Amino acid sequence: MAIRKIRVDDDPILRKKSRPVEVFDDRLFELLDDMKDTLKKAEGLGLAAVQVGVLKRVVVVNFGDGFIELINPEILDSKGSQSAEEACLSLPRKAGKTLRPMSVKVRAQNRNGAWVLYEGSELKARCFCHEIDHLDGKLYIDSLAPGEKVFYTENYS
Ligand code: NI
Repeated sequence: MAIRKIRVDDDPILRKKSRPVEVFDDRLFELLDDMKDTLKKAEGLGLAAVQVGVLKRVVVVNFGDGFIELINPEILDSKGSQSAEEACLSLPRKAGKTLRPMSVKVRAQNRNGAWVLYEGSELKARCFCHEIDHLDGKLYIDSLAPGEKVFYTENYS
């Protein structure tokens, strides 16, 4: 296990599309374990592989009750809308109010390749959307609520 370097700001990799995972091998497990270490150290809610420079459709989230590994995640359904402040480990010292679904249904593979269903609302829905967007080269600044702007803050690392 190791801490990987988080890519930030205008690093061009953050705008690239990640490729589906087809092989569930030791290299994938090492990536997942490193991502968990990296996320824990950064005290974030979620991390996508692209943020550590790996263009694979892999996400790790932790809502405070343990890590969830999401491989090849997809949003199956979304309901309602919400607007709340969001930040990203790849855009340090910035935040902005986004427009997101209020709840989402997500399916993703676990490290054994089995599909698992997840549901989340409010913060969890925002986080699932934010991380899955990373896999398509999208950042939260692309999903700002109408009239909102990114602002600078010291509250987010
Ligand atoms: Ni992010």
